[in-house]
Amino acid sequence: MKILFVGDIVGSPGRDMVQDYLPRLKQKYNPETIIVNGENAAHGKGITEKIYRQLLNAGANVVTLGNHAWDKKEIFDFIDDAKQMIRPANFPEGTPGKGITYYTYGNQTVAVINLQGRTFLPPLDCPFEKADELVEEARKKTSIIFVDFHGEATSEKQAMGWYLDGRVSAVVGTHTHVQTADNRVLPKGTAYISDVGMTGPYDGILGTDRHAVIKKFKTSLPVRFEVAEGRTQLSAVVVDIDAKTGNAKKIERILINDDHPYFDM
Ligand SMILES: [Fe+2]
Repeated sequence: MKILFVGDIVGSPGRDMVQDYLPRLKQKYNPETIIVNGENAAHGKGITEKIYRQLLNAGANVVTLGNHAWDKKEIFDFIDDAKQMIRPANFPEGTPGKGITYYTYGNQTVAVINLQGRTFLPPLDCPFEKADELVEEARKKTSIIFVDFHGEATSEKQAMGWYLDGRVSAVVGTHTHVQTADNRVLPKGTAYISDVGMTGPYDGILGTDRHAVIKKFKTSLPVRFEVAEGRTQLSAVVVDIDAKTGNAKKIERILINDDHPYFDM
């Protein structure tokens, strides 16, 4: 079985890319489950209920989040009813929402877990201990377990990949918005990539208008960050999994932009 995962969707340019390309990617790869990271989907920061529904209508089965989960305050009004949306599981006890969800397709169930790193990011509960707890819970229902580890440091993400090798089907990194070329299947059967990359503006800096970011670096003064305009890109991975064992067979990178044009075949 195949799982398609689309990396951090940034603003309307990212949402437009999802609308345009998801039908084509579905046709090409035939994934049984589609997961998207939507923490930057609303103008680069956070997500609204309308956008959450739009992503589901576009074909997503599960939406994951990250450190920007709470940026649009209306999330607190709908997160507990959004069954197909998860936020990092290692937020403290009592945080609204949940960090694990299940998607059933035919007779196959996929567990999806969202975790957040603690290196160069605000302190949270231990993502490794939380992973142990949730993997054990998920394995009672299914052997197909997909982890979105939202983190800044490649070392912390590699650590999570190796830590969960053989216990989950995939550990994919999100958050840095730059796709890494280290996709591989680890020896005990876990597909891994340090970062899937970003879906949104191609000529900005991590999706943000580059002029503002350069000004910030040059002056250190506060600047207003806007989602960049112009050309766009889509970053994703497709993971091929043995449904019986939950072990990954292959993880393939997808990068679509003007320098890496999309071909149907
Ligand atoms: Fe993030």
